[in-house]
Amino acid sequence: MTTAVYPGSFDPFTNGHRDILERALRIFDRVIIAVVRNPGKKPLFSIKERVEIIKKSIPPTDRVKVDSFTGLLVDFMRNANSNIMVKGLRAVSDFEFEFQMALMNRKLSPDVETVFLMTSSEYAFLSSSRVREIVSLGGKVSCLVSPYAEVKLMEKFKHDSALSENVDKE
Ligand code: PNS
Repeated sequence: MTTAVYPGSFDPFTNGHRDILERALRIFDRVIIAVVRNPGKKPLFSIKERVEIIKKSIPPTDRVKVDSFTGLLVDFMRNANSNIMVKGLRAVSDFEFEFQMALMNRKLSPDVETVFLMTSSEYAFLSSSRVREIVSLGGKVSCLVSPYAEVKLMEKFKHDSALSENVDKE
């Protein structure tokens, strides 16, 4: 039985992420989605929220586990008994960064193999940061994320705009 780890910030999980997950499930028996607890940037959603959004954005299956991690990804993979890392590629521009990460991870743990899966062209332009920006500016993202993620995004920005309105009044 092959288990692959699909790591990321998932802030939030998008339809592009789901597309990569579905492709990974065609190749591997099980996929562990590993949500990084402390990405370099301050995330919009807490770790609990990001995990919840993922769970509610995919059909229920015992082939997928959603987990979170801190520290090195290769250490998480060792504990999870997996040596296959899945990464999504949208465009050539992703490649340079991902190539460096893959080689560094191989240096840290020589038995880890990074498998790159190409996203559907439908999602080549899609990123979590673009989704956050659109919602923050009042746009709709219903074709880019799950209905649950959309609701959570709307709540987050409604809350923030209420806060900023209060600040403006002060
Ligand atoms: O979705 P992202 O933000 O592109 O995911 C980046 C992620 C989580 C894959 C990367 O930040 C990561 O691997 N973090 C764990 C820390 C680590 O192992 N660093 C060494 C990588 S060479």
